[in-house]
Amino acid sequence: MMERNRQRGNVLLSTLGFSLGLILLFTMVANILPQVEGEAPVDSEVDLGALTMDSFVSLGEELFRGKGTCTLCHNNLGRAPDILVMNMVDTSSERLSDTRYQGGAADVEAYLRESMIDPSGYVVASFGKKGSDDTESPMPTVNKAPLNLSDIEIDAIIAFMQSKDGGEVTVALPTEAPAVAEESAAGGGAAPAESGEAAIAKYGCSACHLISGSGGDLGPDLSGIAARLDAQQLQQAITEPNAVIAEGFAVGLMPTDFANKMTVSELKMVVDLLLKQ
Ligand code: HEC
Ligand code: HEC
Repeated sequence: MMERNRQRGNVLLSTLGFSLGLILLFTMVANILPQVEGEAPVDSEVDLGALTMDSFVSLGEELFRGKGTCTLCHNNLGRAPDILVMNMVDTSSERLSDTRYQGGAADVEAYLRESMIDPSGYVVASFGKKGSDDTESPMPTVNKAPLNLSDIEIDAIIAFMQSKDGGEVTVALPTEAPAVAEESAAGGGAAPAESGEAAIAKYGCSACHLISGSGGDLGPDLSGIAARLDAQQLQQAITEPNAVIAEGFAVGLMPTDFANKMTVSELKMVVDLLLKQ
């Protein structure tokens, strides 16, 4: 009984510690990167002195799984290297000594940064765009639309990748508060999107689909989709992607959680926008 109480106490303590840590992290994130929370920070004083490498690494992980949309492609489905599972410190060194490597990076940190801001600089064998003979990467350039990650956000993601594989974190903690980025027209925050275009950007649809002339090709080209699917079928394609699989495409690649994440009005705006394609 005593033992159980003590255990319960420990669980409570660690839960409390965890929640406090989270609150702290979120306060800092909200201060440094207001767009992550989609709201103006309550307290505008940025105390970068309080930012530790541990919380910077956690921020990187949040961005990796959230706003950065990295896990949309980097997962165990085989469409992109499973960089969460791979040791990216070792992998980066291997890439740099590959005879196909023509980029400008000389160390792990620089390779990881280059992979994000110049994805076609070096294309991992067999992962290039169809027909490009591994010269063009299907990965979006992360500091351009629609992802628009800032330099600090990119550093945080590099810190996360170095740290998860036990490597030395070589990126420096930010020393200056970035200019408070205006909420991009594309959204990107957690606030509900106000147009179909903003919702498409917020949920990263163009990472995989060609929509209004730009985007990736992991999923079907959605130009002219209205000729094939009506409003109800489009809605189903988004909320239950595995119900009907577009011919020639892999099952399970399109994320299945949009139904939980999107608001009703976001879904409606996206369907309306696709009906005009
Ligand atoms: C639309 C799909 C997609 C998204 C989204 C995406 N990537 Fe990639 N990424 C790829 C593909 C495909 C490759 C392999 C081809 C290449 O080398 O560019 C790749 C390669 C990489 C590599 C090099 C891997 C290696 O084995 O050398 C890194 C590092 C990387 N991505 C990081 C990221 C990060 C971080 C994010 C999120 C900010 C991200 N990617 C988002 C598809 C994606
Ligand atoms: C990680 C890649 C990925 C992302 C992100 C993604 N999709 Fe898809 N999508 C696919 C793939 C692959 C298919 C084809 C397989 C299938 O039908 O499930 C598909 C199928 C579709 C289809 C059916 C197309 C047809 O020709 O039948 C629609 C519509 C669609 N997606 C809309 C969206 C919208 C809207 C978003 C953003 C809210 C989105 N997708 C995000 C990969 C993705």
